[in-house]
Amino acid sequence: MVSLSKVVVYIAASLDGYIARADDDISWLETYNTTGEDYGYAEFVKNVGVVVMGARTYEQSLRHPERMIVGIKNYVLSNRPMSVPHNVEAEFYKGALGELVNKIKRETSKDIFVVGGGQVVSAFLNAGLVDELLQFVVPILLKIGSSLYPALDKEIGLRLMEVVPYKTGIVKLHYGLKK
Ligand SMILES: NC(=O)c1ccc[n+]([C@@H]2O[C@H](COP(=O)([O-])OP(=O)(O)OC[C@H]3O[C@@H](n4cnc5c(N)ncnc54)[C@H](OP(=O)(O)O)[C@@H]3O)[C@@H](O)[C@H]2O)c1
Repeated sequence: MVSLSKVVVYIAASLDGYIARADDDISWLETYNTTGEDYGYAEFVKNVGVVVMGARTYEQSLRHPERMIVGIKNYVLSNRPMSVPHNVEAEFYKGALGELVNKIKRETSKDIFVVGGGQVVSAFLNAGLVDELLQFVVPILLKIGSSLYPALDKEIGLRLMEVVPYKTGIVKLHYGLKK
């Protein structure tokens, strides 16, 4: 199969670059999901074949089942056994991310959605595997928490593709990766 799939990060962060409070609280973000605005999510997931996330993000979804992504296969990067709810399709993976992307591209020609968190986003960026980055800037300064880019090992050049300001105050920044 000739794969046209892209690896896309789609994630929201505070203006100062945090994706969760220190205690993993994301209520500051969830209030924006109750406004009737979906920030292009429904359109975006139409072309997603698989989602990839870290063990810590998956763990939070187990605690808050409404956050689980259902109807799309979840790959969870994890070095430990974790449970799977009956309505979720999840496969656990440990190993090289390049090999994971090649494996997924044999399974789907649709896009690979990197959900996060920051450790996983950093790992994909460090491995040069990200094609596009959609970062939603939430109008809040959290001061402390889980960073979106905690572990980059190099500078990464970006090419601006689109900026969308929403009435809620969120701004979408859409970048392509310079390769
Ligand atoms: N704002 C948003 O849109 C958004 C989106 C996603 C997540 N979040 C939040 O972000 C927080 C979690 O983010 P996080 O950065 O702390 O953790 P994370 O990226 O979700 O998970 C990191 C964990 O994944 C496992 N892992 C296995 N292979 C890995 C690899 N190659 N690279 C990186 N990790 C690998 C490791 O856990 P083990 O060794 O234990 O297996 C590692 O500790 C949660 O609070 C979540 O709710 C927010």
